[in-house]
Amino acid sequence: MRAAFTTAYGGPDKIEYSDSLPKVKLGGDDHVLIRVADASINPIDGLRNRGMLRILMCDDHPHVFGYDVGGFVEEVGSKCTNLKVGDRVYGRIGESQSGTLAGYVSAQESVIAVAPTNLPLSETAGVPLVGLTAYQALRAGDVQPGQRVFISKGAGGVGTIAIQLAKHVFGAYVITTGSDHKAELLKELGADEVINYRKEKFQDVIKEPVDFAFDVSDEPAAHAKITKKNGFVAALRGAPSPATAKKILAHPPGFLMNNVLRAANFATSRTAWWYGVRYEAIYCVPSAKDLDTLRGYLEKGTIKPIVDCTYDLKDAKLAMEKLESGRATGKIILSVDDTLDKEFKQ
Ligand SMILES: NC(=O)c1ccc[n+]([C@@H]2O[C@H](COP(=O)([O-])OP(=O)(O)OC[C@H]3O[C@@H](n4cnc5c(N)ncnc54)[C@H](OP(=O)(O)O)[C@@H]3O)[C@@H](O)[C@H]2O)c1
Repeated sequence: MRAAFTTAYGGPDKIEYSDSLPKVKLGGDDHVLIRVADASINPIDGLRNRGMLRILMCDDHPHVFGYDVGGFVEEVGSKCTNLKVGDRVYGRIGESQSGTLAGYVSAQESVIAVAPTNLPLSETAGVPLVGLTAYQALRAGDVQPGQRVFISKGAGGVGTIAIQLAKHVFGAYVITTGSDHKAELLKELGADEVINYRKEKFQDVIKEPVDFAFDVSDEPAAHAKITKKNGFVAALRGAPSPATAKKILAHPPGFLMNNVLRAANFATSRTAWWYGVRYEAIYCVPSAKDLDTLRGYLEKGTIKPIVDCTYDLKDAKLAMEKLESGRATGKIILSVDDTLDKEFKQ
């Protein structure tokens, strides 16, 4: 089996590739085994590879990484009820499974959904993690039609989907940040205003407060400052609350870890209190149900995946260098098996 993996905690220089790893096996009765066509990488892969999430999850090496997958179901566990062999699927796998940058991945059926039929897997494999994150954040903030929404880092993987969902699904007025040459794309995706973050600080430009601020750029105080009293700030960095950690981790945090997480959240809780806003650290919860909802939007053309570039799996190290440059517009895709998903290839 082909796979990209890390040999130790560290940067992209610790990434290696092999085409002769043992094939992954079905991981349980509630799992499906997927033959991977395409995968995608996210900043969390870089953080996890560098050992920065070790306090929450420890990895043995070699470690096959990657969360996002598009592929075909090859085997189903005896307790699976929704998916069948041959289904064309996409998903964001859980934390405890071996990663998606491999010829095969086993994942719980509950996090894998039928992929949109109108788009190649080489595009939709980039949707699950960022699409679920953006959708779950907007839903947590209960965004209503006509409300003012601010989304920082509009040109990134999360931002490009969040802008489209906020505008075309939740019906909001959308303000975002992006450099000059990306403004046209961001407006095309649905942004009503684009603030050039290289020239101005958004907290100085936004005079009328927003109902919902999506902190994708890790600036909690600036986001709280531009949000109405009792408005909602959804943040993507920082420690999860103990309740969120329980939802996303394979092993629920114990007494000590709960207190560490509470302490880590103290500064942001105080900022939120100071500005009178509600504040929640959002962590993507893998969910086939939410992916089904996103499939509907993708098939209707309400939202579309934005792909920056595609690398062959053997170049995973280069792909990670590109991701960590922080300059990608939308998603970085890894082509794992280009003999699959033929109807979308000439
Ligand atoms: N909690 C969760 O579950 C979760 C899920 C997904 C992502 N995240 C986090 O969310 C963050 C964003 O992820 P991503 O995948 O969207 O990142 P990304 O794709 O790597 O973002 C890159 C883009 O951001 C733009 N950018 C960089 N700095 C900016 C700034 N200060 N203001 C505005 N735009 C800026 C860059 O545009 P230019 O080239 O023009 O600079 C580039 O287009 C990461 O910190 C990630 O760890 C968390």
